[in-house]
Amino acid sequence: MKRVGVLGSGDVGQALAKGLKAHGYEVRIGSRSPAKLAGFAAETKIPSDTFAAVAAWGEALVLAVLGRAASQALTEAMPQNLAGKPILDTTNPISEEPPVDGVLRYFTGPNSSLMEDLQATFPQAHLVKAFNSAGSDLMVNPKFPGAKPTMFYCGNDAGAKKFAARVIEQFGWEGADMGSAVAARAIEPLAQLWCIPGFRENSWNHAFHLLRP
Ligand SMILES: NC(=O)c1ccc[n+]([C@@H]2O[C@H](COP(=O)([O-])OP(=O)(O)OC[C@H]3O[C@@H](n4cnc5c(N)ncnc54)[C@H](OP(=O)(O)O)[C@@H]3O)[C@@H](O)[C@H]2O)c1
Repeated sequence: MKRVGVLGSGDVGQALAKGLKAHGYEVRIGSRSPAKLAGFAAETKIPSDTFAAVAAWGEALVLAVLGRAASQALTEAMPQNLAGKPILDTTNPISEEPPVDGVLRYFTGPNSSLMEDLQATFPQAHLVKAFNSAGSDLMVNPKFPGAKPTMFYCGNDAGAKKFAARVIEQFGWEGADMGSAVAARAIEPLAQLWCIPGFRENSWNHAFHLLRP
C-alpha cells in the first residue's frame, strides 16, 4: 500500500496526510472543494482533488470528515472506489448539540457505532477505526516521556488491520487490536473521554496508555 488517499480537508486530514508523506507514502488529499487546499498543497506538495478522484487513486484511504457527514462523503467518493481498500476511519459520531459539562454528545447509542453503520452501508470497503481518540496535533510521532501512547483500533478485515497497525507503529504509537468492527462501540466513546480535560481545563495534550503486566 504505497498510495494513500486522505478524504478530509480539516485538521485531521491535513495532519495525517503530512505524516503519511513524511513516512514515505504517496499521498493525495480530498475535499468537496479541492481549491480550498491550494495553500496546503503548495506548502506540502500533497495534491488535492475531489473525494471521488482521491478515492479512485488511493490503494488505501483515510476517512477524516465530520462524523455526521461521513456516509455522505463516502457516497461522494463513490462506492466502487472504496472496494477492497483499507480505510482508516478517524471519525466520531458527534451530534450538533453542544457538550454537557465537557462531555460530547453522540448521535449513536451504547450498542451501536458510526463505523458499524458505515461498514454496513459500504460493505465493499474495509474500515478500520483508528486515530479517533487523540488530537490531530498528537497523531504523528507524539512525544510522551517513558512510554508510547496506545492507539486502539478495530475492524473486520485482517489485511486492512495489518495496514492500520503498520501506520500506527510508524506514527510512534503502540497499537492495540480490539477485534472486529463491533469494538467501535467502545473505541468511539474514547474520544468523549479524551475531550473532557480539553473542554473543562483547556488541556489537550494527553493520550491513553494501556498498561499490561
Ligand atoms: N480535530 C481533531 O483533533 C480530531 C481528533 C480525532 C478525531 N477527530 C474526528 O476526525 C474527523 C475529522 O475532524 P476534523 O477536525 O479534521 O474536521 P471536521 O471539521 O470534523 O471535518 C471536515 C471535513 O468534513 C467534510 N464535510 C463536512 N460536511 C460535509 C458534508 N455535508 N458532506 C461531505 N463532507 C463534509 C469537509 O469537507 P470539505 O473539505 O468539502 O469542507 C471536510 O473535509 C471528525 O469526525 C472528528 O470527530 C478529530
